[in-house]
Amino acid sequence: MKFHHGAVGAAAFLAQSLVSAAPVEKRGILGPLFEITTLGGMTFKIHQVPNQKFRGARKGRGAMAMAKAYTKYGAPIPNDLLSYIEKLLEELGLLQPGAGNDTSASPQGEVAAIPQMFDSEYLSPVQIGTPPQTLNLDFDTGSSDLWVFSTETPTNQVGGQTVYNIQQSSTAKLLTGAVWDISYGDGSSSGGNVYLDTVSIGGITVENQAVESATNVSLAFTQRPDTDGLVGLAFSTLNTVRPTQQSTFFDNAMRDLAAPLFTANLRAAEPGNYNFGFIDTTEFTGEITYVAVNASTGFWQFTSAGFKVGDSAATTSAPHEAIADTGTTLMLVPDDIAAAYYAQIPGAVNAAQTAGGYVFPCSATLPSYTAIIGSYQAVIPGEFINFAPVDGNTFADATTCFGGIQAVPAGFPFAIYGDVFLKSQFVVFHGGETQLGLAPKPL
Ligand SMILES: *[C@@H]1O[C@H](CO)[C@@H](O)[C@H](O)[C@H]1NC(C)=O
Ligand SMILES: *[C@@H]1O[C@H](CO)[C@@H](O)[C@H](O)[C@H]1NC(C)=O
Ligand SMILES: *[C@@H]1O[C@H](CO)[C@@H](O)[C@H](O)[C@H]1NC(C)=O
Repeated sequence: MKFHHGAVGAAAFLAQSLVSAAPVEKRGILGPLFEITTLGGMTFKIHQVPNQKFRGARKGRGAMAMAKAYTKYGAPIPNDLLSYIEKLLEELGLLQPGAGNDTSASPQGEVAAIPQMFDSEYLSPVQIGTPPQTLNLDFDTGSSDLWVFSTETPTNQVGGQTVYNIQQSSTAKLLTGAVWDISYGDGSSSGGNVYLDTVSIGGITVENQAVESATNVSLAFTQRPDTDGLVGLAFSTLNTVRPTQQSTFFDNAMRDLAAPLFTANLRAAEPGNYNFGFIDTTEFTGEITYVAVNASTGFWQFTSAGFKVGDSAATTSAPHEAIADTGTTLMLVPDDIAAAYYAQIPGAVNAAQTAGGYVFPCSATLPSYTAIIGSYQAVIPGEFINFAPVDGNTFADATTCFGGIQAVPAGFPFAIYGDVFLKSQFVVFHGGETQLGLAPKPL
C-alpha cells in the first residue's frame, strides 16, 4: 500500500479522518470473520467466525474498500462517497458529527496468504531478526517498503499488533541517518527509522534487509490489529527510505532464487500462497501467458486491450494501462468499462451517494468479466464480483450488494487490478524478464 505525497485538499483530509475512524478491518470494530486456528510451520488452517457483535457494521465494506483504494493512491475521495461514509459511521454510532476532524538463502520458498474479512487483504507470516520473530505482514505489489510495528512505535499507536522487538534481535543494526515515511493524501504520515536485519519469507532468507521501523503510524494502521506491517513487492524505485533508497526483499533475494520471480495464488475466502523462486505447476491449468511490464512508474504495470462481459459476448476494445496490486482489495477500471459491465446487470446503478459505488440487487446473477491482456483472456467469475452486502449483515439478508469492480478515480494514470482480479488468476511477477505471467487456475 502506497500513500503518495502531496496535498490533495480538504476532501482527502476528511476522508482520512473518516477512514481512520471506520470499520475497515478485520477485528476491533468488526470482530474476526476469519480466525487463524493453527499457526505453525507453513501450514495454516482457518475457520470462519461470523461476527455477532457489530451487526450492520459490514454494510460499509464496499464503500470503505473504495475509500481505502483512493487514499492509497493519494486521490481525493469524491464528496458523494465521503458523505455516504460519514452518514454510515454516524448511523453505526462510530462517528459523532464533527469527530471526523480530530483526528543465506534457500533457492525457493512458499508462504501462506491468509485472507481477511471479505478478502479485504491477505496476511503472510514473515520472520525477522535473530532469533526469528514472526510478524504477519500484508504483501503489497503496489508499494516498495518493508515496514513494521516495532518497539519504537509509541504504545498508544499499537492496537494489538505484534511488534518487531529491535533490542531482542542480535542481528539488528541501525542504518544511521536513514528515515522513511509514507504519506497519505492529506499529508499525515507514517514513518520512522531503518534497521538492517535478517528477514525470512517461506524459507528464503535475506541478511541486511532494510526493515523500516515505525516511530509513528496513522490511526488506520493502529486499527488493523492483525496487520503487523507491509512487505512492499513493487519495484525498488518506489522505496521511500532517504537519503539512500533501499531494495525490496524480492530485489535482494532475486539473485539467490532458483528463478528470479515470485508468484501469487490468492484465493477467495481461503488461504492462498506466495511462492518465491519457483513456479508450482499444480497451482494453475494450461499455459502461462507473459505480457510486458512497464516498470518506469515503479509498479507492475501492463496494458489491457479491452474486456468482455459474460460468456458469449464479443470483446470490446478499450485499451488501458493497469497495475497488478495485491495491496488493493477491489478491481478499479476506467469508468466507461465499469459502466458497460454494470449495464448488463438489471437493477445495477452507480450509487455513489447511497453506497459509495456500483451496486446491484443481491439476487442478480452476475456475468463474468474477462480482461483482455495480450493474447490472454483473464476471466473473473461473476461470483467474485459480488464484493459485500450493502444493507444487511450477510449476503443472505441484504437486498443490495456492492460490486468488486468499481471505477478508478477520474484522471488516474492506470487502472488498479487488485485482489478481486488477482484471486481469479495464477500470477507470476517475473523480476528477471520484467514481465507478468497469467494463467487460469481451479477456483
Ligand atoms: C470538519 O470541520 C469543517 C470546518 O470546520 C466542517 O465544515 C466539517 O463539517 C467538519 N467535519 C465533520 C465530519 O464534522
Ligand atoms: C512521523 O514520522 C515521519 C518520519 O519520521 C515524520 O516525518 C513525521 O513528522 C512524523 N509525524 C508525527 C505526527 O510525528
Ligand atoms: C511506460 O510508462 C510511462 C509512464 O506511463 C510512459 O511514459 C512510457 O511511454 C511507457 N513505456 C512504454 C514502452 O510503453
